[in-house]
Amino acid sequence: MTMMDYDLLISQAQAITADEPDLIANLSNLSALVFDQLDDVNWVGFYLTREPDTLVLGPFQGKVACLRIPFGKGVCGAAASSLETQLVEDVHAFPSHIACDSASNAEVVVPLTVHQRVVGVFDLDSPTVGRFTQHDADGLSKLGRFIETLNWNQLNGSQNV
Ligand code: SME
Repeated sequence: MTMMDYDLLISQAQAITADEPDLIANLSNLSALVFDQLDDVNWVGFYLTREPDTLVLGPFQGKVACLRIPFGKGVCGAAASSLETQLVEDVHAFPSHIACDSASNAEVVVPLTVHQRVVGVFDLDSPTVGRFTQHDADGLSKLGRFIETLNWNQLNGSQNV
């Protein structure tokens, strides 16, 4: 597998969101862009902090997924609690991992923070153990920094902006 060019991906992300102020529309297309551009992924999307300490399913590409994840639970909840990108080689070795799709074996989750508050997480799954490297985690975290610059203040019901 070739190394992903994340600077190019971020340029594409900027281009497809530049003229659109609606957050949900932009997150929807971003999940489609990343799902399309990365090899060997089976789920790409967002969980949004819509209630205190709770991630609620947002725009995504992939199979039907868990609707709500408490902060601290699973890989997504660990990202939300720790504010650190989670790079998991094998989700079955991760304590409290939440299995939404039995095909998922590796995962990266990037926490998204605006004004020092977690507004959501960006979650990617792969069917291949060890699919994601530090290069992917770093590139996706950089993409996360761009996603944080979108219009998060229009998220109705968010506790965090
Ligand atoms: N596996 C995740 C749950 C979300 S799905 O992968 C879409 C977790 O443990 O947080």
